[in-house]
Amino acid sequence: MQDQQSSINRRSFMGGTLAAGFSTSMALHSNVLANSKSEKLVVGVMGMGGRGNHLARSFESLENVEVAAVCDVDRKRSEAARQALNKSTGREIKSYTDFRKILDDKSIDILVIATCNHWHAPAAIMGCNAGKHVYVEKPCSHNPHEGELMIEASKRHKRLIQHGTQRRSWPMIVEGIKKLHEGVIGRVYHAHCLYTSSRGSIGKGKPTTPPAHLDYDLWQGPAPRRPFKSNMLHYNWHWLWHWGNGEVGNNGVHYVDIARWGLQVDYPTRVNYAGGHYMYDDDRETPDTSDVSLEFGDKGLITWRATSCSPFRGDEDGTFVTFTGEKGALAINRASYILYDAKGKEVERKNGASGSNGHTQNLVDGIRKGTPLAADIQTAHVSALLCHLANISHRQDKLLRCDPKHGGRILNDPEAMKLWKREYEKGWEPKVG
Ligand SMILES: NC(=O)c1ccc[n+]([C@@H]2O[C@H](COP(=O)([O-])OP(=O)(O)OC[C@H]3O[C@@H](n4cnc5c(N)ncnc54)[C@H](O)[C@@H]3O)[C@@H](O)[C@H]2O)c1
Repeated sequence: MQDQQSSINRRSFMGGTLAAGFSTSMALHSNVLANSKSEKLVVGVMGMGGRGNHLARSFESLENVEVAAVCDVDRKRSEAARQALNKSTGREIKSYTDFRKILDDKSIDILVIATCNHWHAPAAIMGCNAGKHVYVEKPCSHNPHEGELMIEASKRHKRLIQHGTQRRSWPMIVEGIKKLHEGVIGRVYHAHCLYTSSRGSIGKGKPTTPPAHLDYDLWQGPAPRRPFKSNMLHYNWHWLWHWGNGEVGNNGVHYVDIARWGLQVDYPTRVNYAGGHYMYDDDRETPDTSDVSLEFGDKGLITWRATSCSPFRGDEDGTFVTFTGEKGALAINRASYILYDAKGKEVERKNGASGSNGHTQNLVDGIRKGTPLAADIQTAHVSALLCHLANISHRQDKLLRCDPKHGGRILNDPEAMKLWKREYEKGWEPKVG
């Protein structure tokens, strides 16, 4: 671990790097490349569920990058992650239940956020305020307003925010999308997303005392207080609006992100969500079955069809996103792409690598060399926003008309616009410092 002074010097140097990156000074960039190559980057991870552990291993695998601290409000998870990393790295990793200790640690450069969704934006903003670069899981926000605040925080503090839509860094997806943009199937006007899963019931929970190893107050953090229920944790919060964003705000973000990348669209003109919670009689509030349409004026249409709790999981070759153009189609299938001609004949198929290391490396390269991020916060915000708008359509039971010229704001509907932001627990309102 470096001493504090060298860390501060390095940090202000990197701040300069980023300022240069924002003002696109190529001369400074080449200087930065030469000088910062060998700088060690130190990481703290918040939220040690399956994803947080995966990301800790991914950052740890990169050259000259070290995880120094892990944090979970569930002490058992934080401790298990610490022990696993101690063993794999041979170093002594710090373990916290309060992530503000990571923010206070001047030697930490990057805050990784793999918590429940209601924490993503507030923690990312606090991270930027504290001078950290951020890797935040998808969806970057719990509501549209939070995404806008994150953009402001990133700009004001000149900190990078990379979004956990890691497919933006998978080589064959990058290549397939590039081909689309080069016109391989002519004008592209439709992207269809298909998601299937066989999730089980979450049952019916009972109000109970939170387990002693969980700091439930800090788990709730920015969300207004609600009593603890026996079936909320872990993971099931995804299906409860107070903390999660349902399947479209879970797996949907990956799909919709690729769809809008291929179509080259951002803010929609109309959004509609057909679907419901049909499969189980349980506490799930968000739909288990969905048909979402996102229209972009004359630029085209994205459809997202999902069955989250179906015994049918799709076939082995199950496509992820299929683009239709005037001269053919292109399917993104996991980490591969398949190209079809105008008659529907397969003409090319390329398989590539998946995983997270390319994406975590991209953030590290962004910090060290000014490399553009594959999923920067502006890109992230728009992809998450599309999913939030879909959910607003469902919760308001109506088709939304949006204004692409004003960040996708919902037109002539103050009731629907109320869901653009949320209420916060007093003292936890996100604020760009
Ligand atoms: N990019 C991907 O492919 C991908 C894959 C899986 C999950 N995810 C995302 O990662 C996030 C986590 O997913 P998961 O499956 O690990 O969920 P999970 O519910 O199993 O884990 C979340 C963890 O965050 C902890 N936590 C909550 N508030 C905290 C706080 N204030 N400080 C520290 N820890 C806190 C919880 O105690 C829990 O251990 C979700 O947002 C999910 O959407 C992304």
